[in-house]
Amino acid sequence: MKRAIIIGATSGIGEEVAKLLIQQGWHIGIAGRRKEALEKLQATAPGQIEIQRLDVTDANAPTLLETLIRKLGGMDLFFLSSGIGSQNPDLKPEIELNTARTNVEGFTRMVTAAFNHFKTQGGGHIAVISSIAGT
Ligand SMILES: NC(=O)c1ccc[n+]([C@@H]2O[C@H](COP(=O)([O-])OP(=O)(O)OC[C@H]3O[C@@H](n4cnc5c(N)ncnc54)[C@H](OP(=O)(O)O)[C@@H]3O)[C@@H](O)[C@H]2O)c1
Repeated sequence: MKRAIIIGATSGIGEEVAKLLIQQGWHIGIAGRRKEALEKLQATAPGQIEIQRLDVTDANAPTLLETLIRKLGGMDLFFLSSGIGSQNPDLKPEIELNTARTNVEGFTRMVTAAFNHFKTQGGGHIAVISSIAGT
């Protein structure tokens, strides 16, 4: 069985990708900050879904990713779908800084952790949907 980890699977694109992979028989590990949403999705296919609450802006998120990989028994695909975006017409700095903490710092933290896991493992796939992925 193929194994995927999805960060940001509690809504939006990440949740829909999770549902598609479940339909295709994948075993998935899902993460996000909202524990109830993780549990709700897990209840739809308990034998195929492991969950881990984590916040990509926290320094301990890579450790929690490793915990989720262990629960899943390994990882073939890492999919980062966590991201935020706000209209900010008054250009309040805190709104932009919070976006950077999630979309830039969180991206760097999580993709680095996934890359290092795959480097040790000898292979794997990384997919990211945010615009920073192109960089
Ligand atoms: N490349 C493209 O064409 C394209 C198109 C559309 C969207 N996007 C980008 O893709 C991202 C997701 O879009 P969406 O429509 O799926 O948004 P969404 O429905 O708001 O989902 C965002 C997901 O990110 C998670 N998340 C947010 N902050 C987090 C944090 N600090 N730690 C862990 N998880 C976090 C949320 O979970 P919790 O709230 O439970 O933490 C949620 O599961 C956004 O960054 C958006 O800009 C890209």
